[in-house]
Amino acid sequence: MISKPFGPRIGIVGGGQLGKMLIEAGLPWNVNYNVLDPGVDAPAARYAAEFIHGSLTDREAILKLAEVSDILTYEIEHIDVETLIELEGQGKTVIPGPRILKTIQDKSLQKQFYSQNELSTTPFTLFHTIDEMRGAASDFSDEKIVVKSAKGGYDGKGVWILNRSDVQQGNVPFELNGNTFFLEQFLGHARELSVIVARNTDGDSKTYPSVEMVFDPELNLVDYLFAPANVTDEEETALRTLAHDAIDALEGVGLFAVEMFLTDEGEVFINEIAPRPHNSGHQTIEGNVTSQYEQLNRILLGLPLGETDLYSPVVMINLLGDQGVSGDYGLSGLDQFFAAKDAHLHWYNKSQTRPGRKMGHITVRASSVDEAHTTATHIRSRLKMQQR
Ligand SMILES: Nc1ncnc2c1ncn2[C@@H]1O[C@H](COP(=O)(O)OP(=O)(O)O)[C@@H](O)[C@H]1O
Ligand SMILES: [Mg+2]
Repeated sequence: MISKPFGPRIGIVGGGQLGKMLIEAGLPWNVNYNVLDPGVDAPAARYAAEFIHGSLTDREAILKLAEVSDILTYEIEHIDVETLIELEGQGKTVIPGPRILKTIQDKSLQKQFYSQNELSTTPFTLFHTIDEMRGAASDFSDEKIVVKSAKGGYDGKGVWILNRSDVQQGNVPFELNGNTFFLEQFLGHARELSVIVARNTDGDSKTYPSVEMVFDPELNLVDYLFAPANVTDEEETALRTLAHDAIDALEGVGLFAVEMFLTDEGEVFINEIAPRPHNSGHQTIEGNVTSQYEQLNRILLGLPLGETDLYSPVVMINLLGDQGVSGDYGLSGLDQFFAAKDAHLHWYNKSQTRPGRKMGHITVRASSVDEAHTTATHIRSRLKMQQR
């Protein structure tokens, strides 16, 4: 039975793996959670004291969640933010504030926010028509140019890396349909890092040690990531300072993942912010003193922030749906996982798979990142999904 020493009932918009792990972190404290999701078998659904079945963009469904919850949070950006703004106006606590979400939902507003607040970000030019785009291409001098759709993108969708000559000729693989897009300077050799920032209602904040992400070039998803990142002390300070300053400028309350680029010259640029627990913080469950999920629970419940230090080098590997397997599935080949010394499996309880879908992850701690990476890849190489 769930009792409630910590009082408030937390309503989560979205019941995916991030919601599931947020709840798992609060279960030892007997926190109450309600979940809204369109899937009755969503990963977080079975932990919900009240499960609301509905779309994340359905106003009525969000109102129902709000009715049974004292505090609202969300684990995904593509949700009905206007209803959350309205609820906040009526006195409901929504963390992070929905106005921040509204800015983040639109990458062009994010970029403008960074430049207005003098937060280092790559140069960009907005456009709405093909003619504007062709003209804007002359603001950039590199051979490659990045084009981003302001709204609706995720996991690399809505982002194109194109030849500048093609952009100049209007030769692009997308329709504009009156929407906002922007061109952005392409950073050829930059590495991608993330710093998680926790900031509470008192304005106290803590940053996590930076995490370095290695992407799967085909799927555009994080293949694996590691901490500590392979950076100098100066670079670590620059990354954590930029992340901290960005969330301070937003006056954000909640947990935020700040994605940044680090060039070979040691320059840092902010790419985007996720106002929620993030893939790049999964490994904090076993790797850090306070996980990103516990930290968000602390913020939601008005408790002091926990320490963010790393226990040891750590690698996190995503387990994605195998190619050629869709729908019902089985999983085999866990022998290396059980044989490993300090490996931790999180399987998200998704009833259906599809190629490239995030199905789970493995975290490995070891005395070095290399050792952890070797163990993690070895475990993953044995895992196989079967069509059922
Ligand atoms: N300016 C850039 N230079 C080089 N690569 C970029 C740039 N912007 C984005 N990318 C690449 O595209 C990926 C997706 O872009 P991002 O803006 O993070 O969108 P998403 O919402 O899909 O995460 C990034 O993780 C990075 O690999
Ligand atoms: Mg991104």
